[in-house]
Amino acid sequence: MSAARIAIVTSQAGMEWDTDLPLILESLRAEGAAATAVAWDARDVEWGGFDLAVIRSTWDYAERVGEFVAWAERAGGLTRLWNPASVVRWSSDKRYLRDLAGRGVPVVPTRFVEPGAAYDEEGMAALLDAGAVVVKPAVSAGAFDTARYEPEQHADAARHVRSLLDRGRVVMVQPYLRLVEEGERALVFVAGAFSHAIRKGPVLTESGVIDNARVPHPGVAPYQPSEEELTAALAALAAIPAAEAPLFARVDLVLDESRRPTVMELELIEPNLFLGDRPDGLKRLVDAILAKAGAAGH
Ligand SMILES: Nc1ncnc2c1ncn2[C@@H]1O[C@H](COP(=O)(O)OP(=O)(O)O)[C@@H](O)[C@H]1O
Ligand SMILES: [Mg+2]
Repeated sequence: MSAARIAIVTSQAGMEWDTDLPLILESLRAEGAAATAVAWDARDVEWGGFDLAVIRSTWDYAERVGEFVAWAERAGGLTRLWNPASVVRWSSDKRYLRDLAGRGVPVVPTRFVEPGAAYDEEGMAALLDAGAVVVKPAVSAGAFDTARYEPEQHADAARHVRSLLDRGRVVMVQPYLRLVEEGERALVFVAGAFSHAIRKGPVLTESGVIDNARVPHPGVAPYQPSEEELTAALAALAAIPAAEAPLFARVDLVLDESRRPTVMELELIEPNLFLGDRPDGLKRLVDAILAKAGAAGH
């Protein structure tokens, strides 16, 4: 049998900053696979020449989401793509939180505002009546264009909402879950099974400020999730509209004011999987990738 040809799909930023990437490539090569890092938007890539393409650090997709989803659909028709294009499409827009809520998964209470909606003073006041709020776009990553506002800063929050709507973005307004300051939990799953978890500090350390240079994962530390957290994360995974479990998934949870774990986001496209200090997690992922490549029938 010839070596499995595997593309680990990344971006310019990913090539530079993705610390999981070299580990995955090295481990796959040590197992005899022909693994290469390829930027999703690189020209002249023959995706059909790979037995498998695994999306990992396509960290520039949010600003070009239409192009990215179209790429995933095209690549998915030429090679086996994980996570699959349909899952990429569904999870690229955080309106999937509604689907999760509809399936009984505890999620951060969210109001979505569509561009074109006329929000007068009164409408805006009603939208922001949750006390301290977070405003962010529905298609986003890395805390881009995301900010929190205390009640006395609601005029700034309203400006933020309007500026996103003016740029044609769907906007999300959520209560600011203050217990994020005790740590957001990120639970990593490989082929549907829990692998490992980390805890990270709050990203929106200052209120009233949009700062796109923020560190998206401050103060990462290993974490052992509670049973309740595992249950919430598994419920989120079970709600993904796909027949097969995702190759990889990260479920980010924050405790609400009654200390109940709630889903902040379900990362199925390009999450950092924090494999650096987790050789066990790396092995699980690499084994799962090799299994998918083998199943490609070469
Ligand atoms: N409702 C919220 N309450 C508290 N913190 C939040 C809230 N929404 C976002 N944050 C903070 O902003 C960060 C980025 O938001 P998130 O929804 O995870 O989007 P992204 O896709 O950009 O990671 C989170 O990791 C968290 O620190
Ligand atoms: Mg996040």
